[in-house]
Amino acid sequence: MSLKFKKILIGVCGGIAAYKSAHLIRLFKKQGAEVQVIMTPESTAFISPLTLSTLSEKPVLIHFQKKTEGEWNNHVALGLWADVMIIAPATAHTLGKMANGIADNLLTAVYFSARCPVFFAPAMDLDMLIHPSVKRNIEYLQSIGNYLIDAEVGELASGLYGKGRMAEPEHIIQTIEKFFCPYRPLEGKKVMITLGATREYLDPVRYITNASSGKMGFALAEHAHNLGAEVFAIVGSVSSQTSNSQIHQIHVKTALEMFEKSRELFSLMDYAIFCAAVADYRPKTVHSQKMKKSSETVTLELIKNPDIAQELSKFKKEHQITVGFALETEQALENARLKRIRKHLDIIVMNSIENPQSTFEYDTNQVVVITPTQEISLPLKSKKEIAQDIWKIILSFEKEKSSQRHESL
Ligand code: CTP
Repeated sequence: MSLKFKKILIGVCGGIAAYKSAHLIRLFKKQGAEVQVIMTPESTAFISPLTLSTLSEKPVLIHFQKKTEGEWNNHVALGLWADVMIIAPATAHTLGKMANGIADNLLTAVYFSARCPVFFAPAMDLDMLIHPSVKRNIEYLQSIGNYLIDAEVGELASGLYGKGRMAEPEHIIQTIEKFFCPYRPLEGKKVMITLGATREYLDPVRYITNASSGKMGFALAEHAHNLGAEVFAIVGSVSSQTSNSQIHQIHVKTALEMFEKSRELFSLMDYAIFCAAVADYRPKTVHSQKMKKSSETVTLELIKNPDIAQELSKFKKEHQITVGFALETEQALENARLKRIRKHLDIIVMNSIENPQSTFEYDTNQVVVITPTQEISLPLKSKKEIAQDIWKIILSFEKEKSSQRHESL
């Protein structure tokens, strides 16, 4: 599960760290979350409501006031609407009010009405943060079920150095992701996924390619990220995108470029999934100028591209797991089984062409996942669901492999 469609209430208090709220909102929006911002009146001196409403694509709420449609800004409704409330930055002043039942502005009134989990990210000068009153308030707020996203150490607005900086927006996002998706077997792991089509150029404007959309690769990348991995997508030509800005994207055009980038990353990876539709051949000659029309026929001489999956899997280390795809039209299972072995892959996912809705441009897929010990048929379903199933199979394969290793020791 990602943050897509999650309803996030962000409370912004009056401190210099309020400028970081802009980035925080952007990160949530990029993940497809719905964001409603509530500002304290004091915070508007630090960042403009216009900036935050533009980024959140919703009017920012500051005061208890009548909306144009004649409805009140209802703090109870806002508290019920949200899946999670995050107060960032949380000042000593607002923390004091939260800990003592003082609801003198919209933000604190919403806080007291919220039934959803509440996170708070304090930001203040170092001496304020360690003041016994503030410490007591923070401890009390945690003891009644609120979640602290602790302040970080660094240079503070006062010029002093110490603990008090608001947690970085990236860290806040990760905390919320972990909250919604606590099953994170890929935490601390690195995953590389090649995806999309390659373009093999004849001249500066013409190329040979295929219709790969990149949807399956992005679905695998997004799910790996949801499971806690750091994901590197090596992206060829695609007609789809991911809304997850946490996935590192490295854009390439040709098979040679894809090979180069994959080779650079491979040794650092724990898992590599070769999902790209790589052109097997490229034109022997790439014309530096646009080719002119002359004779009636033209013959193209093509030369073989490196096989990225095979070349890298050949040198994989014991802990690395490699997964490939195989699109077969005849003797499909037999060819896919052989391809897994020939390419030194642990797992191969055979794309079925039996169902016309399981090819390149569709949102659905039907596959058979082949491991050294099993062949698992997955019926036609969304590429997102297929991605979840593939990761489940990868993880159980890994478990099986490590238990075999322990038995043989
Ligand atoms: N692959 C690759 N580099 C290539 C060709 C393929 O990394 N130059 C990877 C694909 O990403 C996929 C797997 O190898 O994971 C199988 O791709 P496929 O096109 O089915 O196999 P080919 O090796 O091209 O074999 P053939 O076309 O002869 O079936």
